[in-house]
Amino acid sequence: MKLKDKVAIVTGSTSGMGRATAVLFAREGAKVVVAGRNEKRAKEVVDQIKNEGLEAIYVLADMSKPEDSKVLVDKALEAYGTVDILFNNAGMLSMSPLQELKMEEWDRVMNVNVTSVLYLTQLVAPIMKKKGKGVIINTSSVAGFAAHHGFAAYVTTKHALVGLTKSMAWELGPEIRVNAIAPGAIHTAMVDSIGGVEAVKDLIEGSPLKRIGQPEDIASVALFLACDDSSFITGQVLRVDGGIDI
Ligand SMILES: NC(=O)c1ccc[n+]([C@@H]2O[C@H](COP(=O)([O-])OP(=O)(O)OC[C@H]3O[C@@H](n4cnc5c(N)ncnc54)[C@H](OP(=O)(O)O)[C@@H]3O)[C@@H](O)[C@H]2O)c1
Repeated sequence: MKLKDKVAIVTGSTSGMGRATAVLFAREGAKVVVAGRNEKRAKEVVDQIKNEGLEAIYVLADMSKPEDSKVLVDKALEAYGTVDILFNNAGMLSMSPLQELKMEEWDRVMNVNVTSVLYLTQLVAPIMKKKGKGVIINTSSVAGFAAHHGFAAYVTTKHALVGLTKSMAWELGPEIRVNAIAPGAIHTAMVDSIGGVEAVKDLIEGSPLKRIGQPEDIASVALFLACDDSSFITGQVLRVDGGIDI
């Protein structure tokens, strides 16, 4: 088991790639803190993990609210006493054209996708530094490298996470390794919300692997980055996208 007795917080784990990662981390021996806003789905994930005889709790937290990030870390510490792995995976889309983008929407997307990552890191890094070891993984996107028409706020947040990941790696080493995953099209509720596989058909057909990614494709990479198999990797943004844009 690659994460035996590690404590992992996975934000955005009530669905999609976060959920797949929470389950995989638990199967690899981690005690998992599932986080999101939807209690029904949070409970489902914890039940799935517990039904396999593994360990997890859920904490309801809205990543647009700093006070919820604090509650998330406090409850993780209350339940398991420490935090070894933080997967900053929660994220939301924004699909307003630039000229129509309202400041409220801009602030919300920045808060959920970027500011919460900084704040959770500020809460968790001292714990990891003190124990001399820790891993943080952020979820950027292929939208962290290139812009797409009509996604200005989302694209900005995912570019910001590239810079934040590298800054975190510099400032939190040598004890803490920090990397990001940049998923391409992955079949989750987020892709379904914009029209499903059909909406990303051109992207898939234009890629060498010619298929949409599955949440498990991201979970296995998150596991690699979370465990000692990647012990000499930090500050990297790893594209997991079936080879689009090569
Ligand atoms: N799917 C793709 O093709 C793709 C590609 C590149 C990057 N990404 C990124 O991958 C990450 C995971 O997305 P996904 O594709 O797995 O989508 P998903 O299935 O829709 O999952 C999104 C997760 O984020 C959580 N979330 C959203 N807003 C939140 C908020 N305000 N507070 C707390 N949690 C919040 C949701 O939980 P609740 O609803 O319970 O709050 C859910 O667990 C995101 O950062 C996304 O930007 C996705």
